[in-house]
Amino acid sequence: MRKKFMIGASVVLVAGLALTGCSARGGSSASGADIKKGDTIGVALPAKTSQNWVLAGAAFKKAIVAAGFKADIQYAAATNTVSDQQSQVSGMVTKGDKAVIIGAQDGSQLGSQVKAAKTSGATVIAWDRNLLNTKNVDYYVAFNNFKVGQLQAHALLDGLKKSKGNGPYNVEIFAGASTDANATVFYNGAMSVLTPKIKDGTLKVVSGQTKFQNVETDGWLAQNAQSRMTNLITHYYSGGTKLDGVLSPNDTLGRAILTATKAAGMPNPIVTGQDSETASIPLIMNGTQYSTIYKDTTLEANTAVDLVKTLSQGKKPKTVLDKANNNNGVKTVPAIELTPVLVTKENAVQAYKNNPTLEQLAKQG
Ligand code: BGC
Repeated sequence: MRKKFMIGASVVLVAGLALTGCSARGGSSASGADIKKGDTIGVALPAKTSQNWVLAGAAFKKAIVAAGFKADIQYAAATNTVSDQQSQVSGMVTKGDKAVIIGAQDGSQLGSQVKAAKTSGATVIAWDRNLLNTKNVDYYVAFNNFKVGQLQAHALLDGLKKSKGNGPYNVEIFAGASTDANATVFYNGAMSVLTPKIKDGTLKVVSGQTKFQNVETDGWLAQNAQSRMTNLITHYYSGGTKLDGVLSPNDTLGRAILTATKAAGMPNPIVTGQDSETASIPLIMNGTQYSTIYKDTTLEANTAVDLVKTLSQGKKPKTVLDKANNNNGVKTVPAIELTPVLVTKENAVQAYKNNPTLEQLAKQG
């Protein structure tokens, strides 16, 4: 066991050195030597399926301009989303953007576009969501997504213990869109905490639906989560079976789940979330939604722009190789990982103290 670990560790180390060596050489590698002040930085963002993406565009614009670059920011449209983003990234390459920062709509569908970006000499940075099955991604800037899932699962367990008496507890599980590389990482993080509790009988998933493919939410769309919750209620909870809690991967889906339980006349289950959306904070403060996660979008955008700045100065950025979070199927992408914060009614005011809008909402209670 120990030997295996040692070998694993040295492989990671060698991989790390190899990557560092590669990035120091320049050319089509990630040296960023070609980026200079005044150059255009492309930012391709997915459809606005949650508030964090809406905030991201403005945050990037501000940070890119402040760093002395030009900003080329584009969102994928709500329909034909994948092909729209593919042509936006291709357009950025054609225009000669020197770095391309991508929040992927579908992380496995941009292989040829990022290949073209690398061939043109641009640096490719995956942002928030990883780019899958390609070696043509230089860096990944994101929150620790596995940790997000673990925090959500711990919040579910804490909330159940606090307000639903002694277990066993009846719960249901929801995940995000299978096209988003983050969704499985959130799910895996959460299930690393919940599976032992399902096995020991503390939690009962009444529907029996626990596998990712059974609990995913197409397109991260609220209406899909709401209709799945409504179906679960009809099939498994109509005979008076209590529903104590629901693992929800984000706030948008959490509110949709609560809409379904309310329409069915059920008492609110413990519902988790993510993103600290302005529509969810009042619900958290009045006890309707139990928790959310704070991932400061401005910090995340600034971190990516700082990375570009560091590269443009010919310096080596500090990155980590974290296989559990950032392996894209072909390589573990060197990453800058930020720390997510769990927020409940108890710590909301404190957690949002760097964000006047959210702090205000938390104070209003
Ligand atoms: C983001 C989440 C967001 C979700 C849906 C994920 O990739 O990390 O913050 O809730 O997409 O838009």
